[in-house]
Amino acid sequence: MIIAVDGPAASGKGTIARRLAAHYGLPHLDTGLLYRAVGIGVLRAGGDPSVPAEALAACGFGEAMLHDPQLKSEAAGKAASIVSAHPEVRAALFTRQQDFAAQPGGAVLDGRDIGTVIAPHAPAKLFVTATPEVRADRRWRELVGAGLAVERDHVLTDIRARDERDSARSAAPLRMADDARLLDTSALGIEEAVAAAILLVERALHPA
Ligand code: DC
Repeated sequence: MIIAVDGPAASGKGTIARRLAAHYGLPHLDTGLLYRAVGIGVLRAGGDPSVPAEALAACGFGEAMLHDPQLKSEAAGKAASIVSAHPEVRAALFTRQQDFAAQPGGAVLDGRDIGTVIAPHAPAKLFVTATPEVRADRRWRELVGAGLAVERDHVLTDIRARDERDSARSAAPLRMADDARLLDTSALGIEEAVAAAILLVERALHPA
């Protein structure tokens, strides 16, 4: 059983995917971390994320890299969004994601192209979204909570830029799969969103 969870930055898809994995007892992969690892790898090498060859050279990272605390930074998110537009980077990370999805007991993966490219035959697909304002507000609260001094407007501008980059690229753009179920979390708290997600997965797995 594969559960695919896609959606834009700060939509709540990561939390929802983690909670679905716990609920169904499945392993979970946050595929954004793979692109973040590549982005940080390029920056640490003093390279430019927009140069395909430099991004590709950073794709051979080991498992330990996925636990690097810097992956959560805004700089990593931005670099990830840039390297993820290169088709060669997406190809280099493809097998790793497909292998994870193909585990015998099933898996939950979250990202941008799980339902469309990585696991197009997943029986349960969610597209988690929220308005840019709500997503910026959530991200801003997280950053302030972590002790960072940032302007809410600045976070909103970043979110809009990331949406634009992730949606406008030609290689596997952020797009809702035709057979995905939409979950708008704009007006929902975490527990409500998780409960709604479980309901949608149940409906996908056991159609009436
Ligand atoms: O979900 P996230 O914010 O950690 O993702 C960081 C960037 O990685 C995102 O802006 C686009 C890219 N990404 C992608 O292109 N495909 C995925 N499956 C996951 C992330």
